Order: sequence, then structure tokens, then C-alpha cells
Amino acid sequence: MNNDIEKILISEQTINDTVKRLAKQISEDYAGRDTKLLLLGILKGSVVFMGDLMKNITLPVEIDFMKVSSYGRSTKSSGSVNIVLDIHRNDLANVDVLIVEDIIDSGRTLSYLCEYLTLKGAHSVKTVTMLDKPSRREVDFTPDYVGLQIPDVFVVGYGLDYAEGYRALPYVGVLKPEVYEK
Ligand code: IMP
Ligand code: MG
Repeated sequence: MNNDIEKILISEQTINDTVKRLAKQISEDYAGRDTKLLLLGILKGSVVFMGDLMKNITLPVEIDFMKVSSYGRSTKSSGSVNIVLDIHRNDLANVDVLIVEDIIDSGRTLSYLCEYLTLKGAHSVKTVTMLDKPSRREVDFTPDYVGLQIPDVFVVGYGLDYAEGYRALPYVGVLKPEVYEK
């Protein structure tokens, strides 16, 4: 285990089982449509989950990415959402967008992006998140697919970072308090 990690909250095995369950449900729900399914990952935290999820969905998918303003070094939300990297395609009326997110905290990122992509003309917009912290909501937002709900703790690994570190850990863990004090 990484030296900065106090404890593993979600093991690799649990992550694998969770991704398979989500992919199966999504494959069933989007089967038999004339529209395209676009998995839209939110950079950078979603990349590991995106890779696992797309391999396990049994339907044809396209992928794309958007980037929104991040937390920086802080572990608290800034409250506002800025689009840093947008998608540009002219066939959105024929596209079912499934936004792929690592974790939902305040809910601001996804509630903003759902409205934005709907206004852009997507055929449908839904959301899948690996992790959810429902107790942290600042806006009313309910994701369509949730991997696991977790309590109000700051976690890293499986794509999630602290100050750009720890994203490559294959599990989700809690950092030792002294790491924040460095
Ligand atoms: P929201 O807009 O407050 O829901 O923010 C969601 C984003 O905050 C996620 O995509 C993460 O980038 C970041 N975030 C929230 N909680 C954590 C955490 O525990 N560890 C790492 N990043 C987090
Ligand atoms: Mg993120």
C-alpha cells in the first residue's frame, strides 16, 4: 500500500464488481436505439473509470472528454464551474450523452454540465458516477447511475487526486492527515 494512505476505503475487487454492475445496467438501458451512445468523461478524474467502464459496456460507444475548472490544491469546492475544454460536434440531436464522472460532491459540476449539454441540443443527457457523497450536496442533483455512496471523507486513487497525486492507485483510499499539512 502507498505510504501516504491511511486506509483503503474501496478495494480493487469491489471496484471491478461495481464497474461490471454499472456497465451491465447501462448496456441494457441503452440497447436497441437508433441514436449514438457517447460516453463523455470529465477530465482528469474520470479517465480510469472511463477506461474500465467502456471495456465492459457491450454496445457500440463513442467517447469524448470535457474539462472543467478544478479544486486546485484545496480539498474544498470553489463553487463555480468553468469549461476549460468543450466538445464540438454537429450531430448532438442524434446522440445520447452519458456523462462519466469520478465523484459527485456538491453536485455543481454535473448539474451545470447536464443543463449545458441539454441546451447544446443532445438527444438525451444522463450521468454515471463511480462515487457519490450525497451528504455534501449544495444543489439538488441526483445521478442516474451510482457506483458506490461514500461518507464525507476526502479520497484519492482510481483517478481521484490530491494536488495531482495518487490518481494511478488501483484502489480508493483515505490520505493520512499529515499529507495535507505538508
Ligand atoms: P462537485 O461539483 O462539487 O460535485 O465536484 C465534483 C468534483 O470534485 C470531482 O470531479 C472531483 O474532481 C472533485 N472531488 C470531490 N470530492 C473529491 C475527493 O474526495 N477526492 C478528490 N476529488 C474530489
Ligand atoms: Mg473531477
